[in-house]
Amino acid sequence: MALTQKLRIIIGSVVTIVVIGLVVGITVGVVVGRRKPATITVEKQASQILEKNPLIDGHNDWAWIIRSHYQNSINNLDLNNMTQYKLEGNIPIHTDITRLRQGQVGGQFWSIYTRCTHQGKDATISFLEQIDLMNRIIAKHSDVFQMAKTAQDVRQAFTAKRIASLFGVEGGQAIESSFGILRIFYQLGVRYMTLTHNCNTPWADQNQVDRVNSTLIKNNGLTEFGEKIIEEMNRLGMLVDLAHVSKQTMLEVLSISRSPVIFSHSSAYSLCNHTRNVQDDVLELVKKNQGLVMVAFTPSFITCNSSNNGTIADVAAHINHIRIIAGIDSVGIGGDYDGVDALPTGLEDVSKYPKLIEYLIDQGNWTDDDIIKLVGGNILRVLEKNEQMAQELQKTMKPHESLIERTELEVHNLTQCRYLDMYTTTV
Ligand SMILES: *[C@@H]1O[C@H](CO)[C@@H](O)[C@H](O)[C@H]1NC(C)=O
Ligand SMILES: *[C@@H]1O[C@H](CO)[C@@H](O)[C@H](O)[C@H]1NC(C)=O
Ligand SMILES: *[C@@H]1O[C@H](CO)[C@@H](O)[C@H](O)[C@H]1NC(C)=O
Ligand SMILES: *[C@@H]1O[C@H](CO)[C@@H](O)[C@H](O)[C@H]1NC(C)=O
Ligand SMILES: *[C@@H]1O[C@H](CO)[C@@H](O)[C@H](O)[C@H]1NC(C)=O
Ligand SMILES: *[C@@H]1O[C@H](CO)[C@@H](O)[C@H](O)[C@H]1NC(C)=O
Ligand SMILES: *[C@@H]1O[C@H](CO)[C@@H](O)[C@H](O)[C@H]1NC(C)=O
Repeated sequence: MALTQKLRIIIGSVVTIVVIGLVVGITVGVVVGRRKPATITVEKQASQILEKNPLIDGHNDWAWIIRSHYQNSINNLDLNNMTQYKLEGNIPIHTDITRLRQGQVGGQFWSIYTRCTHQGKDATISFLEQIDLMNRIIAKHSDVFQMAKTAQDVRQAFTAKRIASLFGVEGGQAIESSFGILRIFYQLGVRYMTLTHNCNTPWADQNQVDRVNSTLIKNNGLTEFGEKIIEEMNRLGMLVDLAHVSKQTMLEVLSISRSPVIFSHSSAYSLCNHTRNVQDDVLELVKKNQGLVMVAFTPSFITCNSSNNGTIADVAAHINHIRIIAGIDSVGIGGDYDGVDALPTGLEDVSKYPKLIEYLIDQGNWTDDDIIKLVGGNILRVLEKNEQMAQELQKTMKPHESLIERTELEVHNLTQCRYLDMYTTTV
């Protein structure tokens, strides 16, 4: 009896100790387990996300800097470290290999751009020279850069720890109103075309026609020929980029494009009413189109105040606004590095992307999955959708073959000799 009682007490004590032990153990475990994510710094969290998921920026003008300041000559240029060079006005170069690596850049749409003054003359040649330049940069540093033409190529380059290099033609003047040249650019790897830069093409209006008291000639958006350009881009699988176009052009493209469109470097109009930015009603259409606005860091688009370059917080406000109106699937990043003279404090060059990501994580309403979409997931999806639609359309659509009406060229004084040849039936 006494023995049984003793045994009961012992068993009871053991059970109590085990229960207490379990409770304490689980509590400590839960607390420690909870504390674990908090003990990794926000720097580490951002860095880990970018290690596993490519950050793909929509727009970088490095090639333009090399054309405009070094005549496209790179043999004697140190592309690893360009902090040693200063442009006139002491403007720094924002891009080089060292800083791209520090910024954990996984992919870049390199802007293929030359000035509008080439239009009607040697625009195509000048754009081809920029493609050649990027090809030479990629070849010179093939351990760093890898050409990418598809979403799959981007993933493969990223896995190989190289910066996936995509081409975007900035300015429809590049194709000189020729479907043939549009297709050749696609073959050379161009995966988006910005329909205009800061000049109209004969078939699409640019944003400056929307400025107060603008006296620029207007087509009121896209011409019929412009609509065919969109059809052909959809058929090829070349993304339509609406950065730089007028609002009417945006609306018309969004009403006809079969594939998701992008804004490679534009910000939110309701935070800064610059005509380069995207208005809320357009953001809603971008959401329907499953397209993407890649937020530019350009101070004049961010602060609307020429004596304020802005901060990371100001850029984050634009990203948050576009996310709220267009949705988490329709926001991205298009820094416009080397396309601008000034940048917001904290985002001075391509090494600074992680700082922006850290800022967003710190706000507490960006999950890892949200960040992954922002930095590259969304643009990869848009690329894939364009690829799939192109395959579908090519089953039934034939390549467009028509010439632009000569009168449309005359409106813009673009009837140079090339066109005269094209329209002369006796050739
Ligand atoms: C780049 O060049 C500058 C000027 O020559 C030098 O101060 C700097 O340390 C270099 N940076 C790297 C990463 O080599
Ligand atoms: C636009 O033109 C009107 C009439 O000439 C003028 O009163 C107004 O100040 C102009 N606005 C701007 C922003 O130039
Ligand atoms: C843009 O905003 C500024 C200041 O907020 C205002 O003065 C200006 O009239 C606005 N412009 C347009 C076109 O709405
Ligand atoms: C523009 O920025 C300057 C410098 O930050 C500031 O003093 C000024 O108030 C700003 N102007 C407007 C209209 O916000
Ligand atoms: C996230 O939180 C910040 C700070 O409260 C806020 O300004 C921002 O609009 C929020 N973003 C979204 C997408 O809700
Ligand atoms: C903006 O940045 C440019 C280029 O770095 C600099 O020259 C200018 O002083 C800055 N402006 C302001 C108001 O800080
Ligand atoms: C085209 O040329 C005519 C005649 O030289 C000129 O009046 C007109 O302003 C020009 N148009 C453009 C868009 O440059």
